[in-house]
Amino acid sequence: MPNRPYIVGNWKMNGVRAMLAEARAIDRGAARHPGVKVAIAPPFTLIHAMAEDSQSIAVGGQDCHAKPSGAFTGDVSAPMLKDAGAGFTIVGHSERRAIHGEDDAAVCAKAEAALQAGLDVIVCVGETEAERDAGSAEAVVCGQLDGSLPRSESATAHLTVAYEPVWAIGTGRVPSLDDVGAMHRAIRARLGAIYGEAAASISILYGGSVNADNAAELLRADEVGGALVGGASLAAESFLAIVLAAEG
Ligand code: PGA
Repeated sequence: MPNRPYIVGNWKMNGVRAMLAEARAIDRGAARHPGVKVAIAPPFTLIHAMAEDSQSIAVGGQDCHAKPSGAFTGDVSAPMLKDAGAGFTIVGHSERRAIHGEDDAAVCAKAEAALQAGLDVIVCVGETEAERDAGSAEAVVCGQLDGSLPRSESATAHLTVAYEPVWAIGTGRVPSLDDVGAMHRAIRARLGAIYGEAAASISILYGGSVNADNAAELLRADEVGGALVGGASLAAESFLAIVLAAEG
């Protein structure tokens, strides 16, 4: 049975407590679309309040440390996320990879830590514009999958992959539907090579400038199981329009 479409909002470093009203509106709206799995990854500071407040959406982190605790000033661990009410975390977002220098091995360690803590995990991959122009987009993404995906037992039951071309994030530019479908098929094939039959249960999300206007089309592309949404997830109106589009 195919998974429910999965629409995840990544609030990045946006949101103070006043934004909990927006999350409440998203939660109420999501209740009207039970055929779609809806989640928000707010800043760490809002996870607990949002999780306490939400009935229909999952709440998660945007990153976690690979270690459960220790002398890592400023970091947040997977067990801490779980304790705050998170059900999942994103790892390997391109902003973490680029700004914080996280390589595939670091992303993999974080994904394993999340699973260990009982969280579901969304592992992000995606090529830069230079890599796409050089014709190496699929090779880069498959390399990231090889290096970043957790291999622990039953990982597939808790794993989602998000394909986010770096050049499409926050730019208003999106790949052609053919390119989205081709990359998602390549990812599906690689997941099959890594996990075997269990890979069939893994949803592959598209991310990068998804909005209320383009969501329906992007979500129809081959092997697209949902969307990871940045900017358009910050307002209930635009985010719920994407949820509606996912319901088809
Ligand atoms: P965007 O961000 O929707 O604002 O392009 C997506 C993401 O970075 O997850």
